[in-house]
Amino acid sequence: MIENLKFKRHRRLRTSASMRSLVRETHLTTDDFIYPLFIVEGENKKNEVSSMPGVYQLSLDQLEKEMEELSELGIRAVMIFGVPEDKDDVGTGAYIPEGIVQQATKLIKETHPEMLVVADTCLCEYTSHGHCGVIHGEDVDNDESLALLAQTAVSQAEAGADIIAPSNMMDGFVIAIRQALDEAGFSHIPIMSYAVKYASSFYGPFRDAADSTPQFGDRKTYQMDPANRREALKEALTDVDEGADMLIVKPALAYLDIVREVKDATNIPIVAYNVSGEYAMIKAAAQNGWIDEKPLVLEMFTSMKRAGADLILTYYAKNVATWLKNN
Ligand code: PBG
Repeated sequence: MIENLKFKRHRRLRTSASMRSLVRETHLTTDDFIYPLFIVEGENKKNEVSSMPGVYQLSLDQLEKEMEELSELGIRAVMIFGVPEDKDDVGTGAYIPEGIVQQATKLIKETHPEMLVVADTCLCEYTSHGHCGVIHGEDVDNDESLALLAQTAVSQAEAGADIIAPSNMMDGFVIAIRQALDEAGFSHIPIMSYAVKYASSFYGPFRDAADSTPQFGDRKTYQMDPANRREALKEALTDVDEGADMLIVKPALAYLDIVREVKDATNIPIVAYNVSGEYAMIKAAAQNGWIDEKPLVLEMFTSMKRAGADLILTYYAKNVATWLKNN
């Protein structure tokens, strides 16, 4: 008899859809998602990114329509990337008041004040060399870059950004930006730090979308080595210490172990960035009819949440919101 009781019937809790939903541990809602947008200069532009079908570079005049669509879907937050026409050595376009991100932010906050604008704070889309900071010879100068990044964050906050998301991976960027925001009267604006950002090959399509490929070398002196796990904790804990309000782990899919580690080691919201290459791989397979896109994508995001992500940044946000709405 006792022997019999040791026989475990796991299938009891899988007998019907109702039973399965009763015991489901992880749920997706549209509130979990942040949608990235690429804003280009010029008029009447809606350029599909060739390596990211369904993702567009939009000009400012296209933004209002986009915001309507997003609000209708229940998406509450967008992440803005700027694609400026003019670039220079020091990324001036990132921090001038009439910069493309600043203009887009103002427009969104005017027409859709309830939409949260997350500003990506980096220089790579604005520098002629495509690196995330100021260069001397072939080196990215950490401390000199911090001043410009802080200036970028303040100008984004002045334009109305609700959250500052520094993605540059310079040392001390959280504290430098926190201090500059506080001094400029923005102590209420949170920092969503790209704390754990690997030097990843999964960013390829993004660099097409944002025109931010480094013109020489790579980002390995500032972004992390994909082989390192403990270093992720070092980066995450430093950013918490410096005052980060949320932490991003990026990429997501191949780094879910890191999402879990960072989640367990900290007590602030964790954001998984489902990056461009992850999107492109699935889109390509879907377009070939090799996978069933909707269940696969929902499974992937469920896995990210199960791994510990509180929020997910993804180019799939609109699709997911639509699927969840129709469920
Ligand atoms: C800017 C930045 C990058 C991404 C987000 N912010 C590119 C990079 O570091 O080269 C990548 C996002 C994606 O691949 O979807 N530094």
